Amino acid sequence: MPVVAIIGAQWGDEGKGKVVDLLAAKAGVVVRSQGGANAGHTIIRQQKVILHLLPSGILTPKIKCLIGPGVVLDPDAFIEEVKAVEALGVDLKGRLTLDLRTHLVFPTHKLLDACQERARGKEMIGTTSRGIGPAYADKAARHGVRVGDLLDSRQRKKACGKLFDNHAALLKGVFHEEAPDRAAFMEKTEFWAETLKPFTGDTVALLHDALDRNQTIILEGAQGTLLDLDLGTYPFVTSSHPTVAGPIVAMGIPPQRIDSVIGVLKAYCTRVGSGPFPTEMDEKTAKIVRSSGGEFGSTTGRPRRCGWLDLVAAKQVARWNGCTGWAITKLDVLDNLEPIKVCTGYRLGRRNVQNLPAGADQWEAVKPLYEELPSWKKSAGARRWEDIPKAAQNYLAKIESFTGVPIELISLGASQEATILPRGEII
Ligand code: IMP
Repeated sequence: MPVVAIIGAQWGDEGKGKVVDLLAAKAGVVVRSQGGANAGHTIIRQQKVILHLLPSGILTPKIKCLIGPGVVLDPDAFIEEVKAVEALGVDLKGRLTLDLRTHLVFPTHKLLDACQERARGKEMIGTTSRGIGPAYADKAARHGVRVGDLLDSRQRKKACGKLFDNHAALLKGVFHEEAPDRAAFMEKTEFWAETLKPFTGDTVALLHDALDRNQTIILEGAQGTLLDLDLGTYPFVTSSHPTVAGPIVAMGIPPQRIDSVIGVLKAYCTRVGSGPFPTEMDEKTAKIVRSSGGEFGSTTGRPRRCGWLDLVAAKQVARWNGCTGWAITKLDVLDNLEPIKVCTGYRLGRRNVQNLPAGADQWEAVKPLYEELPSWKKSAGARRWEDIPKAAQNYLAKIESFTGVPIELISLGASQEATILPRGEII
């Protein structure tokens, strides 16, 4: 049975939630292995559900959902999300496991995130304010607090108290901010311990059990490859690895056990927050796309920046992840847009380049080279390849020929029905 990684191929918000939700019906296990409550995976069933921490398989009965050691977990957000899905009638009993090694996000991480952003002034990253950077920084500095630390009362008090004091000193000394009340925080950690305990376990062992039992496993990426801490548009990136390396590093899954890597590629590009965006559209066109694509952050509500499809970036992203297929999302949003532009080269000074820049200044300096393709009237409503207008088919063919990666899934709307699998079932 296959192991399938679903990876964001742009700057996040590609529509991974729908793809995972769709494939989950055939899976035994869905794993979230990096990121935190900065993610917002939207799933449309009878109602709209936005998941930040829970794997997108959670709405499908019986499927096991794992939150692995590479995630940074805001316990308040987790508890709220658990309550919200239970209120929808979802039975979580024995289905959701949170790794003992997963690092915690404290309220003070979120305060530090906000203070650091303020201090960056004009160079602010535009983070989601979910405490992601500070939590990963504490993890890398090896004084973070993990889920397992909560379970023993002495260890909980020691580890949480120490990190809280460290944050309080930073907040006061560097940012001249008062930390929240220490006693109330310590009381909260007791509540976290009681509430999280029934969900805790060893997700790495569970994943390997599932591999041994030949179950179908979906590795659900959060954010997108161009936000990768090492390969993305640093410093305008997140603090984890949204590439296929995410689960390899954090879940102990050997690379050769991953059978396919589906890159989720929106038919155009968006980005939230600051940072280079070579194919960003003029604001007039962006407004049309933003409004028809509902391009507002599902975590923060911020309007997303919109741009043309960047095939130079897509090709590199496919190489880095070893993408075996694309899931193209939101094709319908380009209906009626004229002309349709697609970036097939970068100009850097006097040179044409096909690699993504390594330096931050080069990222800023790069100019996109566009090809204009014929537009089409209406792809929305298509449910078979033959129903997609010829010009839209050509657009999809261009993606395949330029990147060398076949299209496995086309999404033309938020609902599960608005999906075409041109090469048949993926799993
Ligand atoms: P952070 O991950 O909150 O630290 O934010 C760092 C950068 O990543 C900012 O530009 C955010 O807008 C962006 N980012 C983080 N998570 C997501 C996501 O799930 N979708 C889109 N952008 C994200």
